[in-house]
Amino acid sequence: MPTFVEKLVGAARAPGFEDVYLVPSMAPVEPGSVEVSTRFSTSVRLLVPLASSPMDTVTELDMAVAMALLGGIGVVHRNMERARQVEVVRRVKEHPPVRLRSLYAKPGDPCGSVAARLRDYRIRDVPVVDGGVVLGYVSFRSLEECADPLEPAGRFARPGEVSDLRGIGEARSRLVRGERDTIAVVSREGAYLGTLVYHDALEELSPALDPEGRLLVAAAVSPFDADRARALDRHVDAIVSDVAHFHSAEVLRSARRLASETSADFVAGNVGTGEAAEDAVSHVERVDGFRVGIGGGSICTTPEVAGAYAPTLWAVASVRDALDRLNVGVPVVADGGIRSPGDVVKALAAGASAAMLGYALAGTDEAPAPLVAVGERLYKPYRGMASRGAMERRFAVDRYSRVAKRVPEGVEGLVPYRGSVYSVVREMVEAIRAGLGYAGARSIEELWAKARFVAASRRGALGSPEG
Ligand code: XMP
Repeated sequence: MPTFVEKLVGAARAPGFEDVYLVPSMAPVEPGSVEVSTRFSTSVRLLVPLASSPMDTVTELDMAVAMALLGGIGVVHRNMERARQVEVVRRVKEHPPVRLRSLYAKPGDPCGSVAARLRDYRIRDVPVVDGGVVLGYVSFRSLEECADPLEPAGRFARPGEVSDLRGIGEARSRLVRGERDTIAVVSREGAYLGTLVYHDALEELSPALDPEGRLLVAAAVSPFDADRARALDRHVDAIVSDVAHFHSAEVLRSARRLASETSADFVAGNVGTGEAAEDAVSHVERVDGFRVGIGGGSICTTPEVAGAYAPTLWAVASVRDALDRLNVGVPVVADGGIRSPGDVVKALAAGASAAMLGYALAGTDEAPAPLVAVGERLYKPYRGMASRGAMERRFAVDRYSRVAKRVPEGVEGLVPYRGSVYSVVREMVEAIRAGLGYAGARSIEELWAKARFVAASRRGALGSPEG
């Protein structure tokens, strides 16, 4: 039995993202040819190794749709009533695999402001929608007939074609050919779903789809809430466990039951050590993936509140090693503290198959929280799911949720506004490709085999503010 001093001085070193870097090696191909497809869980295949975190300031419908359209996956948070969470994932599944915008004019909108909107968006036409019904289109040209800028734009609407979901391919081609700038897309019942816009039709999207061609989506559940898991099961590709410490006898028992009563992939988490992963696979019959990292999130206060911490990078490597020893090939998703594409590359190099992002996506248009202006700058609220506000919300909307802990382990704050998640993720993926190239890898599997780390610290490109 080691003495207390021996335990202290013999503490294992657990490097985090800021402690190590990848050793540059010979790049076998150009970054554009690097393959970043991967798995989120046993049967969920992604084209890019990114998932959005199940947090109420990160993933609801818009984020989940965007993540799948971009080749990743969104995990819808559980801080809402069960029926609403089911509705959100159902709507992701019903969403066509193209980018639609909520871009339309109402018949009563003043024609001056509609003309200004067309100018801002640099489009020549826009659908006119009333109560979910497409009434026609107003074009820049038709608005020229409008003498008074306060006249209702609906008066200048002309009939125009709409597309249903099956006709989207053809509609997109018409936009690309420049025949028009927008086409309204409607459901089978004729209800307006969104607008296909010329600029978006030009962008190549490689969506992550299920075998039936629908967008991928996952949902978070408490391992104690088997009812919610069963309600979501038919509609999601993966059920993601959402508990701070999966490595607990009671959680393992509940997760075992939950996984046996559902058929979607089951992602266990969060775990922070190889032993936790070993116990999970021995107690829960079906584990299809692991969400790994404890206390590393940007909004986490677990290390301060509880003194416990499993830095994400170290936790990923520990879990991957343990699973490899057991010959269990299920994917590991690195979760917490991933701010930059460089962090994603390090997590992948340490054995992860994908990275889960909270902070990095919370400032985008597709995150649910409203924009906040502070002085000249724009921000979006971002909060830990174990922050006081998020916990209060959870207990208010879900009477089944268990009050496991009464001490907050997360904080609430603001993150800088970053624009659309489409540009944020695209840029990130390009950088991840470059990172794999620097590490000498053509694919994530090759990165696992080839990556070498150096333990080093560096100053940012502009040095530290004090420096
Ligand atoms: P980032 O760094 O991407 O981290 O913002 C997101 C991840 O942090 C975890 N999370 C929490 N951890 N208290 C915690 O200790 C919290 O209140 C909290 N909320 C989220 C979660 O794993 C998420 O994906």
